[in-house]
Amino acid sequence: MREGNPLQRAARLCAPEMEAVNRCIIDNLQSDIVMIPAIGQYIVNSGGKRLRPLICLLIAKLFGYGGDRHIPLATVIEFIHTASLLHDDVVDAAHERRGAPSANGVWGNQASVLVGDYLFSRAFQMMVAAGDMAMLKLMSDVTNALAEGEVLQLSRTFHLEMTEAECLEVIERKTAVLFRAAAEVGATVAGEKPEVIAAMSEYGMCLGVAFQLMDDALDYIADDQTAGKPTGHDLEEGKITLPLIVAMEADAALRQRVQEIADRDGYRDGDRAWVRQRVQQQHGAEETMARAQRYAQRAAEALGRSGDGGIRTLLQQLAAFAARRDS
Ligand code: FPP
Ligand code: MG
Repeated sequence: MREGNPLQRAARLCAPEMEAVNRCIIDNLQSDIVMIPAIGQYIVNSGGKRLRPLICLLIAKLFGYGGDRHIPLATVIEFIHTASLLHDDVVDAAHERRGAPSANGVWGNQASVLVGDYLFSRAFQMMVAAGDMAMLKLMSDVTNALAEGEVLQLSRTFHLEMTEAECLEVIERKTAVLFRAAAEVGATVAGEKPEVIAAMSEYGMCLGVAFQLMDDALDYIADDQTAGKPTGHDLEEGKITLPLIVAMEADAALRQRVQEIADRDGYRDGDRAWVRQRVQQQHGAEETMARAQRYAQRAAEALGRSGDGGIRTLLQQLAAFAARRDS
């Protein structure tokens, strides 16, 4: 239990359940339309951390749950996540993810969107098959929030007046809701009381915010190899994220340059490196990471004194790790 980072330790602890999730993923990617399992397997096996299903499994274990109701639900969460990434890389015109060409880079945008639709609808078929109306409601609300978050983000493209609060709203909707759902599903299948489910929900939400804030910080400080995708891309895509907001508040020249980039709708030679350097000089990424660490702390506090002590500690470490990870 001691060796490796918290993610590796959590994966080891939940290895049998995670194996069942992996089997469930494969089973539900079967289709006689060969492109579906091909693209599905490509993205599902492309080195993702399976963090969302893991949180679901770990929280169920925190409360001593020994059944298997959470296996298809954890799979549903991974499918919705995967579908959202397939769509996201098309929307963001991204060609790399997790250190490899993204699915749209290999098969093109149309195939990515359509296989994303397949995964998304498969997830809902699986929930209907499970016949659990409460879970169906939870996951349909989550998916709706995801889509809202993305549309909100799109409507704020190159919006230099973006505030920290708006930025957090986008993050909660586009990323944290799925982490929240994962935690909520784990506590719900374990039959916990509503107060406990709400506390776990808060844990998932705060961990999700910490995770995305780190992602936003890394876009300004990590190298491409560490991040597994080209960095310095958020601004190019018109995303005004927290490191940039923080830095622009203190640096009028940076704000001016960002306005010029917005006016011509993209970088010109040297813009990426220049902006990156100014954001670093203003400690925009450090400030963002400090916020991420505060969210990780909130996540840890939300766990209170619930469930098994050892697993609780691991969940706390996992939250801290999400705010410290280097990719
Ligand atoms: C990654 O953010 C993207 C998300 C967290 C969510 C994407 C959601 C959708 C496209 C909504 C629609 C999906 C469905 C199935 C209804 P990012 O672009 O900031 O991070 P990245 O650098 O990893 O791409
Ligand atoms: Mg993206």
